[in-house]
Amino acid sequence: MLIPVILSGGAGTRLWPVSRSAYPKPFMQMGDGQSLLYKTLDRALKITGAGGSVLTVTGRDYYFLTRDEYATHPQAQVDKLPFLLEPVGRNTAPAIVLAAMYAREQLGADATLLVLPADHLIRDLDAFAADAQRANALAQDGWLVTFGIRPTHPETGFGYIRMGAAITAHEGREIGAFVEKPDLEKAETYVASGEYVWNSGMFCFRADVLLETAQQTCPDVYAAAQLCYAQHIGSASPVEFARDAFLAQPDISIDYAIMERAAKRAVVPAQFDWSDIGSWKAMSDIAPESETDDAGNRIRGSAIVIESENCYIQGEKRLVAAVGVKNLVIIDTGDAVLVADRERAQQVKLVVEQLRASG
Ligand code: GDD
Ligand code: MG
Repeated sequence: MLIPVILSGGAGTRLWPVSRSAYPKPFMQMGDGQSLLYKTLDRALKITGAGGSVLTVTGRDYYFLTRDEYATHPQAQVDKLPFLLEPVGRNTAPAIVLAAMYAREQLGADATLLVLPADHLIRDLDAFAADAQRANALAQDGWLVTFGIRPTHPETGFGYIRMGAAITAHEGREIGAFVEKPDLEKAETYVASGEYVWNSGMFCFRADVLLETAQQTCPDVYAAAQLCYAQHIGSASPVEFARDAFLAQPDISIDYAIMERAAKRAVVPAQFDWSDIGSWKAMSDIAPESETDDAGNRIRGSAIVIESENCYIQGEKRLVAAVGVKNLVIIDTGDAVLVADRERAQQVKLVVEQLRASG
């Protein structure tokens, strides 16, 4: 059985001031009024069908907010959706290993996981569903599968996959090499070579295969997760974890702990469109034509823009006016205003760091 696992954890500090710790990135609304989390559930239900079983791994503080968000989806039966609740974030390796332990025990020995981060945007759901079935077929043969995205620029915030030999009997390629977050120089060579794709951060594998692999590639993560899982609170859903046992797990991503080191890895070159909404620049890049004026300004909310170019403006409550500026991101949430150079959108996280440091 293919079980979508929604991972909703990151704080999304580069999307401050809209993304806040009390209301993080997955809850952010896109131009069509749907949140990234809603869209992720929608994508998951496309795989399972209406009322299907979708496992969510998220922070305990977001449990009720997440359920409320899911309840707005007409095809979701929220009371039947299982949840694993983390006391704090410990990165994706522990989250996924715990999800695999839960799925194997509660959802069937043959459970196959389709891991879906809650902060991606995919528009073509039919192409996505077709690729997910390709990945599922590979997973049944014991492969750890990821979805490869054709790179458009030497992004250093992603993992890179060198595609190896075609896998006979399946529509996929072996992974020749997996390099998580290379430096710019390497990323440039990878993009120029044409042999690499981005790791989308979505995965498909049988729960038992993932757990066997984790025992080999990251025995410390596996052992700590086992101890943590043995002390879980709640039998079916929501399942919570004891704080000390949870915190004893290493803080490491699945990319470093498992994908870089595993032997039987495959990639399905994605036929769907994909974006990781990681920064205001990414948000601006996906703005629809209807929100873009002749000078390349993208506006959400009410704004007056005079002799300005290539700005992204989002006003939630007040009118925003811009005169004679270029390449800016301007975000007004009513209680905070961000003005940033569009090309330096990654540094917005420094604002949050400073805010946290000053208490
Ligand atoms: N539940 C839970 N708990 N979810 C988490 C945690 C956690 O502790 N940490 C991260 N996540 C969720 C995030 O919310 C996000 O949806 C997803 O897992 C991936 O985590 P990120 O922190 O966003 O990873 P990344 O962007 O640095 O890198 C990953 O994604 C890239 C593509 O977007 C890697 O897989 C890269 O290789 C990949 O290219
Ligand atoms: Mg990410």
